[in-house]
Amino acid sequence: MVDTHTHAPQYPNNGLGHSLQLLEWLDELTFPLEKQFSDDEYAREVYGQVVRRNLAAGTTTACYYGTLHVPATLTLAEVALEAGQRALVGRCSMDRASPPDYVEADCAASMASTHEFLDLFPRFCANTPLPLNGSSNGTSNQPLVRPILTPRFALSCSPPLLAALGQLAEAKHLPIQTHISENGAEIAAVRKAFPAAPHYAGVYDAFGLLTPRTILAHGVHLSPPEVALIARRGAGVSHCPTSNVNLNSGAARVLALLDAGVRVGLGSDCSGGPGTGVLPALRGADAMSRILAFEGRAERGLSIPELFYLATRGGAEIAGVDAGSFEPGREFDALWIRPRSPGFWAGGDTRALFEKWLFAGDDRDIGAVWVRGRCVSGAPP
Ligand code: GUN
Ligand code: FE
Repeated sequence: MVDTHTHAPQYPNNGLGHSLQLLEWLDELTFPLEKQFSDDEYAREVYGQVVRRNLAAGTTTACYYGTLHVPATLTLAEVALEAGQRALVGRCSMDRASPPDYVEADCAASMASTHEFLDLFPRFCANTPLPLNGSSNGTSNQPLVRPILTPRFALSCSPPLLAALGQLAEAKHLPIQTHISENGAEIAAVRKAFPAAPHYAGVYDAFGLLTPRTILAHGVHLSPPEVALIARRGAGVSHCPTSNVNLNSGAARVLALLDAGVRVGLGSDCSGGPGTGVLPALRGADAMSRILAFEGRAERGLSIPELFYLATRGGAEIAGVDAGSFEPGREFDALWIRPRSPGFWAGGDTRALFEKWLFAGDDRDIGAVWVRGRCVSGAPP
């Protein structure tokens, strides 16, 4: 399962935020926590737990935001590589509209840190050999852990910084992750900060940040022209339903995105969203889609195959990883579900068990997790 949007440093706050909205939540809960990752030892301790816990919950690929700190975010990459988790790891670029003690001085300082991060990253990019029964040539074409450019969101980046990141993404063919159109107050602030842009998506597009390698988190309030633009550019949307409820953001219209040809995956958005791993996000996507249908704002709810696709190959598509399905040629990332919850075995053909686990199971029912053919959590049968 692929978590296309999560914040590794925010796990200590997992479960908080229920009565807040995005901008207050950032100031009151999130920035004060992230600031603490200037301490690399603290980062190592937290990130070790985050990666192990995510693997145990069945997250075989994670698109992680770190903090603005170079050492701590490299530590996150190191921890993911050592644990064998497939990961995209991003250092947050943020040179404005953030607390004075948790912000980069200006565009030049921010880009210097991004270049330092990218220069030091290759030590984690060595292609890990596949086991003998893996692919035919015994090695993968994709590093297990890769860097991703991470302009935090439009509000926290100056126009020169967005421009520099867009140019860098194109020059080095790098993936990009950011947030878009999550919350009403955020959208109003973006309109004010970028008066020349036609809309939120237009801000990113003006700086070359809407690409087929871009992951846009949330997209709750996108207008039809924004959806059409995102589809044209081939960017992906990370649907984060648990976060969109918890932070009182709204209901993203996933069916409309899919109908418009936008590629979609799921994100836990910890700690905007409570819960660990992709399963709670899958259930949130299900509930949200059905509520929209009840209210006549969507034609229908999402089907089980659609939900499972979003959680697996759909996420892999937007993360640009060669996993997420058992089609020939893909790398072997897999979960072994061996039910432990009471009654799971009763009257269950495989299909019923699958459905039971998706909607009623949890990580106690995961016997083992493999990434790139290597058992990285639990124990094989
Ligand atoms: N927008 C900018 N930063 C964040 C964050 O950390 N989480 C969420 N959900 N939205 C954001
Ligand atoms: Fe987020």
